[in-house]
Amino acid sequence: MCGITAYLGSKEAAEILLGGLARLEYRGYDSAGIAICNKGKMSVKKKVGKVKELKSIASTVEGNIGIGHTRWATHGEPNERNAHPHLSSDSGFALVHNGIIENFIPLRESLMRKGYKFVSETDTEVLVKLIEDVMKSTGLSLEEAVRQALSQVVGAYGICICSRDDPDILIAARLGSPLILGIGEQEWFVASDASAFLEYTRHVVHLNDGEMVVIRRNVGYQVSTTQGTTLNPAIVELEGTLDQVKAEEQEEMQIEKGGFKHFMLKEIMEQPVALENCMRGRVKQLVGPPDNQFTLLQRLQVLLSLEREILTSFQSAKRIIICACGTSWHAGLVGEYMLESLCKIPVEIEYASEFRYRSVVLRPDEDIVMVISQSGETADTLAALRHAKQAGCLVIGICNTVGSTIARETDGGIYLHAGPEIGVASTKAFTAQVLVLAMLALRIAQGRTIPDDEYKMLVKELSKLPSRITKILSENEAKICEIAKVYRYAHHCLFLGRGYNYPVALEGALKMKEISYIHAEGYPAAEMKHGPIALIDNLMPVVFIAMQDSIYDKVKSNIMEVRARKGCVIAITDEGNTELESLCEYVIHIPKVSECVSPILTVVPLQLLSYHIAVMRGCDVDMPRNLAKSVTTE
Ligand code: G6P
Repeated sequence: MCGITAYLGSKEAAEILLGGLARLEYRGYDSAGIAICNKGKMSVKKKVGKVKELKSIASTVEGNIGIGHTRWATHGEPNERNAHPHLSSDSGFALVHNGIIENFIPLRESLMRKGYKFVSETDTEVLVKLIEDVMKSTGLSLEEAVRQALSQVVGAYGICICSRDDPDILIAARLGSPLILGIGEQEWFVASDASAFLEYTRHVVHLNDGEMVVIRRNVGYQVSTTQGTTLNPAIVELEGTLDQVKAEEQEEMQIEKGGFKHFMLKEIMEQPVALENCMRGRVKQLVGPPDNQFTLLQRLQVLLSLEREILTSFQSAKRIIICACGTSWHAGLVGEYMLESLCKIPVEIEYASEFRYRSVVLRPDEDIVMVISQSGETADTLAALRHAKQAGCLVIGICNTVGSTIARETDGGIYLHAGPEIGVASTKAFTAQVLVLAMLALRIAQGRTIPDDEYKMLVKELSKLPSRITKILSENEAKICEIAKVYRYAHHCLFLGRGYNYPVALEGALKMKEISYIHAEGYPAAEMKHGPIALIDNLMPVVFIAMQDSIYDKVKSNIMEVRARKGCVIAITDEGNTELESLCEYVIHIPKVSECVSPILTVVPLQLLSYHIAVMRGCDVDMPRNLAKSVTTE
């Protein structure tokens, strides 16, 4: 994780670095720091906590070359000593790092034997001292010493270095952690993601793994491999996000949050718009006879680059393997149910982190691997993608962030177009991911594995989702606040669902854990009997997703089982279903919807419930402790 930003130009670096770090805070916010070189001096400012803390002590530092970092701690607790940038022994150069140097222990021991002193517990400082040692022992330039030191490290890195002794040079390199170069008018930027500098330039070069860039004032930049082969990568012009970035720049946080107290709430509330955007040009209402009103347009195919081949590959696939992490994994689990049911293709869902390291049997001519990632940068998902590609499989991505590493490395894919998601707890990305999976499943199944009338009915259902979410949001918030007030001090909570709503139970529990720090478990409702039932007493809230679908009666029996043990039941069910009132403490009614797309609706009250409980408990909803929006370390 961690966010990196760097600047070389004629402007004051502090303002640019601090602005960039604020926008990269979704990557980690344990501590932050900057280093700026000016007139033979290296100024380093660090602060534990958020970037705004750093801003209060660092915004007046002068100089027009510098590096910045916002940290998500891996090696060493979040304190000032462990905060980046890290310095060489004589403070001659400073380095920021995102990633993990896996062989840092032997390197550190060998450097200590040579007399190097370490002030932090980080793996990063080992890299700094290693570069310093190479320079001292070989007389190489900083650039060459960086290359040589990097050849000795095992692990992942995105690094940026600036030097007091040569304040006209900025060096950056990547292996496994994203870095992007921004090119302005005689000024250059480097960052973990372009949002850090988009207000200054849209012209970028995406650095690939094993690449390094050296930027020289008044000269320009040179990209090469870390072994030294010169490269000439294309400059890409990024589209359309400038206004949004400017909006996010506003000091007045209310403006960027659209009047909402937190990004998470804003993102929950904007789900109707996000889903409209996700379907735009993909699901379209046509003027025509009433029974033929809605058609899933070819646009969906167009958005799958390699369109026809990919569609054919899906239709002839013997197996689809979905890899993802966190909330995206939960969306993938819904996708498994949908693709198997609608397309009759066997699907396996894998945690990306497990997939990569266990001996999955991959058959390139039969299997398609699908990776799902909101950020498009999750290290484990990226590693799974590369593993599948190496095995020769076709790899398809579902991503929200345009131009992200996963989006660029897959053979084809579908963007969510849900707009940037800032809140660490994913909300609108989940509903958009499930929607994309539903559109994909329908596209594959159309004319093949589902009857035409079912296809039309389901496409029509998709088109109604935004207005149905609007209804859920407007009709239930008051009741959900009431429920939150009653259960805000719970220590444990169970979320139960079956079939398509089992993944929603998992997602509801994850939301609760992430932002309110209440221990929560999601379970298939029937599995409750095999363990969790032992936990139930009159202090235990149990949230059931109990839609009137094909297994409703079974879920009702599970509710009875909880009632019999005095558990407090909160149920999500269909509008007009009154029979649960007498069995539950609270019932939340949502519009009736087809079973396979119901997760897109049933998850919404659970998002609101965890949000309100977290707010009432005084938790930092948008930046929950220990979490990061984009997990770029394995
Ligand atoms: C982190 C985030 C989650 C997210 C997961 C996967 O844990 O906090 O909200 O679901 O990463 O991220 P991705 O960007 O790959 O969907």
